[in-house]
Amino acid sequence: MTGTTAGSTGEEAKMAGSAGPTGPMSAEALTGLVVDRLRATPDPRLREIMTALVRHLHGLVAEVGLSQAEWMAAIRFLTATGQICSDTRQEFILLSDTLGVSMLVDLLAGPAAAGAAGHATESTVLGPFYAGGSPERPYGGSIVERPAGEPAWYTGRVTDLAGNPIPGATLDVWQNADDMLYSVQNPDAPPGQLRGVFRTRPDGSYAFLGVRPTDYPIPDDGPVGRLLAATGRHPWRPAHIHLIVSAPGYHAVATHIFDAASKYLDSDAVFAVKPSLVRRFERHEPGAGAPDGVPPDTPWDSISYDFLLEPAMKPR
Ligand code: BEZ
Ligand code: FE
Repeated sequence: MTGTTAGSTGEEAKMAGSAGPTGPMSAEALTGLVVDRLRATPDPRLREIMTALVRHLHGLVAEVGLSQAEWMAAIRFLTATGQICSDTRQEFILLSDTLGVSMLVDLLAGPAAAGAAGHATESTVLGPFYAGGSPERPYGGSIVERPAGEPAWYTGRVTDLAGNPIPGATLDVWQNADDMLYSVQNPDAPPGQLRGVFRTRPDGSYAFLGVRPTDYPIPDDGPVGRLLAATGRHPWRPAHIHLIVSAPGYHAVATHIFDAASKYLDSDAVFAVKPSLVRRFERHEPGAGAPDGVPPDTPWDSISYDFLLEPAMKPR
């Protein structure tokens, strides 16, 4: 970014950049004019954001010397991004995710020391496949309504930052099947497939049966997929399960548990991996000790993860 263009005010620009009332307009003067025009914005936060947006956008255009054809290609790209959006597809969020913007917002909004010992569980992207209204299920219940991969037994506790159990905390969980699809993407899947809401017991414990997560690609048949391909990037996400953990009086956390065995941990298409969220699954042979719901001849996996919630009173 060119510091002069991005940093100019209209007054500065008039003095430094313009050739005078009859001369050609300079880039700096133009940026200054637009920024000046925004000074009347009544909402100060909107003024701040719009001013920064204009400075950075003008700075970008100036830095790369954007051509008319490139500008038109960008307009076509944004138009296509809007046109593919529907009730079930949000391509702008996907664009934000793949440019790391969603994670940047998440990082700036979250608690400073999240994920460190004694600190709140770290958040990560919500993703587009969350559907509220998942079925309430009992402690130890299964979210697998139809076979969808190797069974996996998820256990752990929800506590406050001091390790005190939070009884009645809610875990809203969802994951993809071994065909890589979430139930909301698959019209053939039962609506409750691989989704469920669980509550912790008096000791803060939770348990449920799901499946071992599999890697999957984000939707890449639209403009965002074409941009990934054009920039030499793959669309894959490392295997994970999604959870929103919440309890009255605490900040809710939307997060994932990532499978340590995934080969995409270092190249997540949406930059959402945080080391504190990565765990190793333990594999078990069929038979003795298998939780309810695991067929007798089937190997299964287990994983334990404790969630720490931050009191809502604690300022961020
Ligand atoms: C997901 O994990 O479900 C997801 C997150 C961001 C973009 C696409 C999918
Ligand atoms: Fe996901």
